[in-house]
Amino acid sequence: MPFGKRLGILGMGRMGRCLAQGLISQKTIEPHQMSFSTRHLETRAQATHDLGLKAAVSNLELVKNSDLIVLAVKPQNMLEVLREIGPALGKGKTLISIVASVSTTDIETEIAKGTAVLRAMPNTPAFVGAGMTALCAGKSAAESDLKMAKEIFKSIGKVLLVDEKHMDAVTGLSGCGPAYLYVVLESLTDAGIKVGLSRDVATQLAGQTVLGAAQMLLETGRHPAALKDEVTTPAGCTIDGLLELEEGKLRVTLIKAVVQATKRAKALAKKAKV
Ligand SMILES: NC(=O)c1ccc[n+]([C@@H]2O[C@H](COP(=O)([O-])OP(=O)(O)OC[C@H]3O[C@@H](n4cnc5c(N)ncnc54)[C@H](OP(=O)(O)O)[C@@H]3O)[C@@H](O)[C@H]2O)c1
Repeated sequence: MPFGKRLGILGMGRMGRCLAQGLISQKTIEPHQMSFSTRHLETRAQATHDLGLKAAVSNLELVKNSDLIVLAVKPQNMLEVLREIGPALGKGKTLISIVASVSTTDIETEIAKGTAVLRAMPNTPAFVGAGMTALCAGKSAAESDLKMAKEIFKSIGKVLLVDEKHMDAVTGLSGCGPAYLYVVLESLTDAGIKVGLSRDVATQLAGQTVLGAAQMLLETGRHPAALKDEVTTPAGCTIDGLLELEEGKLRVTLIKAVVQATKRAKALAKKAKV
């Protein structure tokens, strides 16, 4: 591990496992420096078998033997876990929560004082190393904690630092965003089939088009409207397609999707108040 610390992943579900795989494949950390804990013995055995990682016998043991702990449980399991591990945390320990909606302040009230607490919101393209993680730090976290967290999440994609007040918005946009885009991709694929393409060809055309358009946006830094205008020739085909999108209210629908998901993340934050 570049920062020479021991990492513990508490919760080895979809996201915990994805992070562990990224860290192993990117060689961010030596596998012997990493361990994990789960609730069920079967999950523990499966993860040990698949990833070759050391399993801690309990959450408490994991915390005691780790400098840096990534909390990857569901929001409804957060409180019991924090109460269990809270006393074993404290100065010298860093806790990174990927749990949606629960603030660093709420986490800090349940655990030993002095623990450096951070939050991360990754997304599922992390499974192919193309994730987008937003990171923020609680009041006890130092620059060095943020640096370590950045290093960890870089193993599964890109990382951006944000102010904590934006974490629910991040959840609504990039956390949930892959689902919106899968609907777009499914629709484009079905459209390809409607106009006579095979499913395989339509899937490849749709997928690479979305990937390429996103890459153009990020690599050129140009405004999406300018990039759209370049495809749209006078009296051409694209403007007819765009007219249909406007009539179908695609823009407003996507905006509303992010707004609603953000509101839901805020509401869950109140509900999950630990
Ligand atoms: N999925 C996403 O797109 C996404 C994106 C960003 C952030 N997140 C956040 O990531 C977190 C995890 O999501 P997920 O999809 O990975 O959930 P998941 O697949 O349900 O995994 C949750 C894990 O937590 C473990 N767990 C539950 N209670 C525990 C306890 N008391 N002690 C130890 N381990 C315990 C479970 O262990 P067992 O398997 O043994 O029961 C399981 O391995 C959530 O809070 C979510 O908000 C998810």
